[in-house]
Amino acid sequence: MLVLSKPTIEQYSDIRNCIPSTLCSGIPLIDLSKPDSGHLIVKACEEFGFFKVINHGVPMEFITNLEAKAVRFFSLPLSEKEKAGPAAPLGYGNKSIGLNGDIGWVEYLLLTTNPDASSQSFLSVFGENQEKFRSALNDYVSAVRKMGCEILEQMADGLKLQPRNVFSKLLMDKQSDSVFRLNHYPPCPELQALNDTNMIGFGEHTDPQIISLLRSNNTSGLQISLRDGSWISVPPDQNSFFINVGDSLQVMTNGRFQSVRHRVLANSMKSRVSMIYFGGPPLSEKIAPLPSLMKGERSLYKEFTWFEYKKTAFNLRLADNRLVNFERIIAS
Ligand code: OGA
Ligand code: NI
Repeated sequence: MLVLSKPTIEQYSDIRNCIPSTLCSGIPLIDLSKPDSGHLIVKACEEFGFFKVINHGVPMEFITNLEAKAVRFFSLPLSEKEKAGPAAPLGYGNKSIGLNGDIGWVEYLLLTTNPDASSQSFLSVFGENQEKFRSALNDYVSAVRKMGCEILEQMADGLKLQPRNVFSKLLMDKQSDSVFRLNHYPPCPELQALNDTNMIGFGEHTDPQIISLLRSNNTSGLQISLRDGSWISVPPDQNSFFINVGDSLQVMTNGRFQSVRHRVLANSMKSRVSMIYFGGPPLSEKIAPLPSLMKGERSLYKEFTWFEYKKTAFNLRLADNRLVNFERIIAS
């Protein structure tokens, strides 16, 4: 089934009026090889909740190796792929995202980042290539997690937080509830016939975890929402990573950073493959503003654990603002 969304005229002209070379200009760029990028990361998180990272240190070989395996998996017949599904919540999913009726022009594989083999028995669909897939996944995830920790530590420096691993320790924790997602957006040739219509690949949402680390092939489609509600296209760059602030980081900074709303539009010609590491805390972790960031302010949020947040999110639609359920009503 096709999901057609007619954007408002304003939105659509925003997309159209962007000259390709200026599309990127608004997106902050962080060179991770510069050890003092903390203040730039903080600025990007305050203004966009989103930035692009170069010199990220993730070996290209790990990226191309895992991507090749993902492409091979997605090219299997549907009946084969469905043996790794349904995504409940881990496993293979097709068009349907979550359990509450969201659909998009996408298929995906949702995995834990735990190298423990038994938790993803559905990967037996890879047959004799299962071990090769696991090892490519582990290489990639370890390198990307390391990059994520470097970003979070430079971010802590930029916020003048001590110790500098306040955020990164949550990703390094053995109990960290981080997940990994492979998304495949097949080309949708029908789109060309449907003038002035966008088709949703992945509907608008914010990511619930602390930080999301996205790498895609060179196919466009990703868009982020700016503070004024307008959408801008993110030019793809297969050599870089794109970083999203998640809801949990918004809470930990008491709203100083905001999780970025984003979506993916389907492409009529080329398929898009993206790989996303969602860095999350342990399930029992209390998510609350860091006292050193409060400077006498009150917390904007009720206290909750990551488990409670996930449970609530599970019952909501993709586009819902999940955090409103946890906001504190402050009497004026
Ligand atoms: C996601 C997401 C973007 C993409 O999976 O949460 O935003 O490019 N994906 O696949
Ligand atoms: Ni997302």
